[in-house]
Amino acid sequence: MNEKDIWEIIGKMTLEEKAALCSGKDFWHMEGVERLGIPPVMVSDGPHGLRKQDDKADHLGVNESIKAVCFPAGCATACSFDEDLLERMGSTLGQECRAENVSVLLGPAVNMKRSPLCGRNFEYYSEDPYLAGKMAAALIRGVQSWQVGTSVKHFAANNQEYRRMSGSSNMDERTLREIYLAAFETAVKEAKPWTVMCSYNRINGTFASENRKLLTEILREEWGFDGFVMSDWGAVNRRVDALHAGLELQMPGPCPEDDAELVRAVQNGELSEDELDRAVERMLRIILRYEQAEVPQAVFDREADHQIAADIEKECAVLLKNDGILPLRRGAKVAYLGGFAAKPRYQGGGSSHINSTRVSSALECAPEGVVYEEAFPADRDEWNEEAVERAVRAAKDAEVAVIFAGLPDSFESEGYDRSHMRLPDCQNELIRRVLEVQKRVVVVLHCGSPVETPWADEVPAVLCLYLGGEGVGEATDALLYGDANPCGRLAETWPLRLEDNPSYLNFPGDEDGVSYAEGVYIGYRYYDKKKMAVRWPFGHGESYTTFAYSNVRLSSEGKKVRVLVDVTNTGAREGKETVQLYVEDCTGTPGRPVRELKGMKKLSLLPGETKTAELELDDRSLSWYSEKLHGWYAATGTYRILLAHSSRDVRGEVTLTYFSKQRIPLHVHRNTTVGALLADPRTAPILQEVIEKAKSVLAPAEDAPGEAASEAITEEMSRQMLFNSPLRAAQMFFGMSKAEIDALIEKLQKAVDA
Ligand code: BGC
Repeated sequence: MNEKDIWEIIGKMTLEEKAALCSGKDFWHMEGVERLGIPPVMVSDGPHGLRKQDDKADHLGVNESIKAVCFPAGCATACSFDEDLLERMGSTLGQECRAENVSVLLGPAVNMKRSPLCGRNFEYYSEDPYLAGKMAAALIRGVQSWQVGTSVKHFAANNQEYRRMSGSSNMDERTLREIYLAAFETAVKEAKPWTVMCSYNRINGTFASENRKLLTEILREEWGFDGFVMSDWGAVNRRVDALHAGLELQMPGPCPEDDAELVRAVQNGELSEDELDRAVERMLRIILRYEQAEVPQAVFDREADHQIAADIEKECAVLLKNDGILPLRRGAKVAYLGGFAAKPRYQGGGSSHINSTRVSSALECAPEGVVYEEAFPADRDEWNEEAVERAVRAAKDAEVAVIFAGLPDSFESEGYDRSHMRLPDCQNELIRRVLEVQKRVVVVLHCGSPVETPWADEVPAVLCLYLGGEGVGEATDALLYGDANPCGRLAETWPLRLEDNPSYLNFPGDEDGVSYAEGVYIGYRYYDKKKMAVRWPFGHGESYTTFAYSNVRLSSEGKKVRVLVDVTNTGAREGKETVQLYVEDCTGTPGRPVRELKGMKKLSLLPGETKTAELELDDRSLSWYSEKLHGWYAATGTYRILLAHSSRDVRGEVTLTYFSKQRIPLHVHRNTTVGALLADPRTAPILQEVIEKAKSVLAPAEDAPGEAASEAITEEMSRQMLFNSPLRAAQMFFGMSKAEIDALIEKLQKAVDA
């Protein structure tokens, strides 16, 4: 259907029909206009599986949905650092949607993990916007390859559950752009999602659903978004304001009162019918894109997709630590302890909850002869001395004890935040008791977010599955016994304790909102700046083999700059290495994180094999968001390009020199400091001349009487004093008159504006 046809349909619609289209038909369907051939298409949660509800609808995962395949959650898939993998997962989901007549999958969720306590961290990808953006874009590409839409959510700055429908995320412009919008920007620009879901919260006081700056100026006008915006379920505050701001679809529906409000607004002139028409046009375009797509016959093959889910998890699990105890030998005498061995926690609670087809456990997949003791239940913090004693005995009798630990469902969920970062006490205590009798211990973790691991130094191996989807049992077995080689990398820092987290003093805020006072220093940006010890750094992950980096080089072709590095598998097993590219700004620009992730490349290598990783820098790789420019900026100077195994394990580097054509605007006035003017190449020569002249006038005579202070101190002192002085002090320092200072200011400003 072309543009003209859509406008023809709109021309035939009544005002009431147009308004009705702006809210859902029911919980999961958009409104249609049957008489004009517009069907009521269905949307469905995701994003790591299909939560298609046929009968009883809800947005909290309370009622059943159809049987579907539960893939690993966002917390896990981000650890793959693998765009191809996410695209494949997306394509599988897209096919499932097609087969089930779902027009839009509600995801991916790309909000930043500001605090480990956020209840929905398990759905989100990372503390790093580059990684989250790339993962989201890949998933979107995959889903949409089946001509099924996605809804990248929750736009924006929705980083906690506390006061989730009313709270305000308060931050400066730079932080918003650089950290909290950046993943959305990448997803929108690179993958063109059909829809965007606006969040419940306010941003600096304005509801996301009424935020014209966000929904129209940034999303559409700046980033080129050409789909439609839907509200999160119940996120609309005042309907007419939301439409004005750029929110086309209110969900869920029906909303007869709000529809009537839109009709009245058109009638009384508060809203122009053109504006309403434009909203209708954007929705019709997507509905018809779905309806009229020519795609191959789709099938939802639950058995095949279960296998895909298991295979994906093998690429995501992170081997946090291994003192050589893993992989286990099949046939070894192994004890599995902890309720999660039989009942893995493999997904989170709330709107993303999947009614899984078939969940595998590590225990059911385990080799014959593995003994099992529950020791503690998987769903609560409960101590049972007898059960623990049995477990300790089993551990003692075994060659290796594998403890399946993790967060019970009730510890983290949509709807509320965690109140602490600990595992249930019973689990920490069990680990301690087992270590008294058995040193060969592996801890396998099931959680959607980092936990404190007070036993980490004594336990020789830790494997983190995150929430690994319904094939987690097969994946765990393959990883523990070495049929698969762990290759996941942490998409977030694991701090030693909650109090170390940069948001600690400002989370979760109060009635007036939550202050993002740490600014751009989220996650590793903060820990690195403060040179803090962490439990496991961002990007970290062990393997059963080893890798060596060599021959780092730059290559440029036209405007493109590529960084290349050779990576060799120096161990005895096939394995995958994720080369991470970090950029360090060495230009002296204040207020920048030590290093930031700007590229990644996952390579699969046979023993002894060498491959070259090619990573490309783009115009964002060096830049930061300047509030003075209201735009992105990179200063002239040098940048270190680091090739790394993790954010704290740099294996090679090259230096890049960059010449900026942009200038940060500078308003010169009486209180502009000499230092600022000397740091700016436009004003430095003029000021330098004034200083030289003044020096020759003011220099003390060589035979001046009296004892001078140490020359070094005097020099440093006068240099610093001058540096920090406002221009008006030139009167005192250089004996300049007010008129001379004003003339100097004018000259400097002219040089800036030239
Ligand atoms: C969640 C969304 C979800 C929607 C529909 C809301 O409560 O925040 O992520 O897509 O419900 O279930």
